[in-house]
Amino acid sequence: MAGAQSTSSLPRHVAIIMDGNGRWARKRHLPRQAGHVAGVNAVREIVRAATDIGLENLTLFAFSSENWKRPAMEVGALMGLFRLYFRNDMDEIVERGARVRIIGNRSRVEQDIRQMIEEAERRTLGNNGLNLTFAFDYGGQEEIAAAARELARAAAEGRLDPETITPELVSSRLFTSGLPEPDLVIRTSGERRLSNFLLWQSAYAELLFVDTLWPDFDRKEFMDALEQFSQRERRFGALPEAVA
Ligand code: IPE
Ligand code: IPE
Ligand code: MG
Repeated sequence: MAGAQSTSSLPRHVAIIMDGNGRWARKRHLPRQAGHVAGVNAVREIVRAATDIGLENLTLFAFSSENWKRPAMEVGALMGLFRLYFRNDMDEIVERGARVRIIGNRSRVEQDIRQMIEEAERRTLGNNGLNLTFAFDYGGQEEIAAAARELARAAAEGRLDPETITPELVSSRLFTSGLPEPDLVIRTSGERRLSNFLLWQSAYAELLFVDTLWPDFDRKEFMDALEQFSQRERRFGALPEAVA
């Protein structure tokens, strides 16, 4: 099912900041957790859409390194939903041929979640459909600092000549090593900021801010976003084709 989108104009990598669950719930006089539950349904729909159209890479921001600052009850609810999602949806993800990867700091999440993450990655390692990446306990600044720390250690131990540090080498030390940089970063809910998401990787991403709250972001909205992307002119610092 190709939909309105032709494969040639598809971005290779779409990354989404899934924001607005709390506001979605508040509008309905529901607890914030209800918004997160609805948000999981949107995740399911967008993952289905992405595999249906043959997208290569989809990265979803599920929990930031700053989201630990939220009340313990909300953090607990989010962790519970993460568990549920992996338990309920992994079979379908496997069937759809997607390969799962989780980027973020694994040391702070509970042991059983860490095991689920490893199991999901192991189970889908041989799949060559959609690369489905969840940013979970993820922060872009932490990620860059960790890469810098690793390179500094190698230099201090005499294993690395600092003069050989290039952007490509730094990229290879990030969690996203091996993935192409995102072409399109979508943020829902009307907020216009990156909130520490893929800071290094989004250097030349097209940014698309939509007002829709994440639980209402459906297949049609996703296709609209891809269509808008196909209208953008990307220059990467050079001149537009017509002028060059
Ligand atoms: C996004 O929705 C989900 C996470 C950050 C985990 P929010 O919970 O941030 O929803 P708002 O921004 O309060 O509406
Ligand atoms: C960013 O949303 C994190 C995720 C979507 C997982 P937030 O709601 O946490 O971002 P801020 O606090 O509004 O910047
Ligand atoms: Mg938010």
